[in-house]
Amino acid sequence: MAKRVLRTKLCDMLGIDYPILSAGMGPSLVGEKTGAPVELVVAVSEAGGMGVLGAAGFTVEAMQEKIREIKKLTGKPFGVDLLLPSQTVEAGDQPFKEGGEYPLSEIIKSLPKTHYEFILKLKEEMGLPDMQATYKEGSTVTRPHAAVKVCIEERVPLFCSGLGNPGFMVEDAHRAGMKVLGIAGNTKNVARIARSGVDLVVAQGHEGGGHTGRVGSMALWPQAVDIAAPTPLLAAGGIGDGRGLVAALAVGCIGVWVGTRFLASEEGGALPIHKENIVAATDEDTRRTYLYTGKTSRAIYNQMHDIWERSGLKALPFPQQVLFASALAEMFNRAEKKEFMGPFSGQISGLIKEIKPAAQIVAEMVEEAADILTRKLPQTVEVK
Ligand SMILES: Cc1cc2nc3c(=O)[nH]c(=O)nc-3n(C[C@H](O)[C@H](O)[C@H](O)COP(=O)(O)O)c2cc1C
Repeated sequence: MAKRVLRTKLCDMLGIDYPILSAGMGPSLVGEKTGAPVELVVAVSEAGGMGVLGAAGFTVEAMQEKIREIKKLTGKPFGVDLLLPSQTVEAGDQPFKEGGEYPLSEIIKSLPKTHYEFILKLKEEMGLPDMQATYKEGSTVTRPHAAVKVCIEERVPLFCSGLGNPGFMVEDAHRAGMKVLGIAGNTKNVARIARSGVDLVVAQGHEGGGHTGRVGSMALWPQAVDIAAPTPLLAAGGIGDGRGLVAALAVGCIGVWVGTRFLASEEGGALPIHKENIVAATDEDTRRTYLYTGKTSRAIYNQMHDIWERSGLKALPFPQQVLFASALAEMFNRAEKKEFMGPFSGQISGLIKEIKPAAQIVAEMVEEAADILTRKLPQTVEVK
């Protein structure tokens, strides 16, 4: 079958065939793998969309290695996503010991006493095993400026910032011939990011996986298109197939940023059990919680959420809360207590019935969207 044509201005801006980006997705709380690893980036970029590496959990050096690996595997453009909340950017890069790697069980002693003791008490009460995970110093989250510098030196085609405003690095990125994208969950932040000189803004609705705000996609996207103009907007939050893509184009977005659907692909970085969670989930099976990062994020409901809500503890600031949640997740994972584990995931999980190769997801999304836009599907509306 001949390849379909489905182009927007985004395709010209980024040098890609289809206006579909796989979202930058950071690491799982357990294990080393990022949600959007090299394999996913390469598969999506090779399929004509753009893959974006989730680099939030890497050390700066590991991120550079991954960028070079991508360049070896594909000549197509790709993106790299970091988390740049203003607190970490303003605080500056934190000192670290090169190659420093410490047991998670030691690092969590730096948490407030209330939180540390809560972990120990839960471990004892539930008979959970010792933690074996280690924590590597020098991550992109604690060294945001070094991470940005490497992305610029590597001339990453699209730099993406999942939290905060990347405005501070736009000039340098543009000098290196790069494009910059920022993500927001309400019109106030969409406007702030758009005015800071970025090339693209993503507006993510409440239903999206990972960090997410209070406004639903269908209400947010058109308002965000208007307020971001003339900066073009991409839609995120709840897009799982060609129908979602068409909806985004219909409100004036020039492309889509898709997380959960690609996480649950063959190349997606979720643990196999987490991919099963997504396939099994219905539309009502996710919850928004402060548990994982100290900011509101959406994940598949699991009993760790109940424990957190009953604890009466206050969420710690990002990224301290990530350490706290990582300790809990590590113990439940080692105990194989599946009912206490669930991945970041959006409400679109209910639509996902199969783990497919990422290239197939791109092709099917394009095919379905092109069919709808050329009115080849049965129409439920009469139009003249
Ligand atoms: C497992 C997972 C991890 C995520 N990690 C990040 C991240 O590190 N940086 C970021 O910008 N967004 C992150 N997100 C949000 C996605 O980039 C994207 O905005 C969101 O998944 C879109 O909504 P959808 O899941 O409905 O497609 C994550 C999402 C998921 C599902």
